[in-house]
Amino acid sequence: MHILITGSSGQIGTNLGLRLQSEGHTVLGVDIRRNTWTNDIETVYQDLSMPYRDFTRGIGNVVYPHDIDIVVHFAAHAKVHELVEQPYRAMENITMTFNTLEFCRSRSLPIIFGSTREVYGDIHRYITEESHADFAFTESPYAASKISSEALVYSYAACYDIPYLVMRFSNVYGRYDNDLERMERVIPLFIRKINRDEPIIVYGEEKVLDFTYVDDCVAGVRAGIDLLVERRDKNHTVNLAYGQGNSLVNMAHFIGEALGKTPDITIQPSRVGEVTHYIANIGKARALLGYNPQTPLREGIHKSVAWSMNWWREHGEADGKA
Ligand SMILES: NC(=O)c1ccc[n+]([C@@H]2O[C@H](COP(=O)([O-])OP(=O)(O)OC[C@H]3O[C@@H](n4cnc5c(N)ncnc54)[C@H](O)[C@@H]3O)[C@@H](O)[C@H]2O)c1
Repeated sequence: MHILITGSSGQIGTNLGLRLQSEGHTVLGVDIRRNTWTNDIETVYQDLSMPYRDFTRGIGNVVYPHDIDIVVHFAAHAKVHELVEQPYRAMENITMTFNTLEFCRSRSLPIIFGSTREVYGDIHRYITEESHADFAFTESPYAASKISSEALVYSYAACYDIPYLVMRFSNVYGRYDNDLERMERVIPLFIRKINRDEPIIVYGEEKVLDFTYVDDCVAGVRAGIDLLVERRDKNHTVNLAYGQGNSLVNMAHFIGEALGKTPDITIQPSRVGEVTHYIANIGKARALLGYNPQTPLREGIHKSVAWSMNWWREHGEADGKA
């Protein structure tokens, strides 16, 4: 297969791209910046948020190859809190999805879209079934950008018959996620700080989230690629997560355990726009994709700590405190 991945220099794109290549498939990445973990994914450097109008050869004036079988659209500004502070980036997310869909339309290509559990809003209501996303509860510009992007995907299926799978991810962690200078993700941030005996801040003691080990997430996407390319099914929206809730405090203690340290935890209230309770219902992904996540949080955290410590030992940290 020939797979185009937008956002291929990011966490999930890197993991998916390398997995597909290891299986013998051809991957073309598109990203605005180089991949800081690997040079193995061929990448077109392009700002997908520009107002392109020409999709005959690729996106804008960039020529893409003709033998692409499917597009996996991951490119986005992916941090909830950053988009609360800089909401124009939420608009850029929508434009990126529009441009990617126009490319799909120009070649009649199926699309997998990386959405998020944020579309459910903050679950004061404890709803996780896929059909229950309720846009009256949009909590942040990031959530709005994903809801808008999903709506565009659904409209392209309705008007132009572009087959899709929308996959709603939740706190993916585990490998190629420790570029903290670009993007602060809570698990690698805690690994770094706890390892240095620095205090950590947990925003929201009561917060319960569904942490997903990256290999499980990628396995779900991988199954979705086959489903669409083999034309066995199309046009579904699924939650891809582990299916269990854990508090951030619990997660921090697992990191401490893996590092042989006792975390120094300060608790502060949740930040504006953040979801505080989410446990995915993954029944639909199980039925549709044979999705069967393998890695509970404690095991995944131990793997993550081992990977990150090894990475920083071999490559150093940006501020030199490996
Ligand atoms: N990782 C998670 O826990 C998680 C959870 C829910 C949803 N998602 C979604 O899944 C997708 C992949 O997530 P990720 O963790 O790999 O994110 P990431 O930030 O690591 O990767 C996103 C990539 O998009 C690229 N990008 C941003 N703006 C661009 C532009 N204008 N043009 C081209 N490329 C651009 C970035 O450079 C980055 O490499 C994202 O859409 C994200 O919103 C991720």
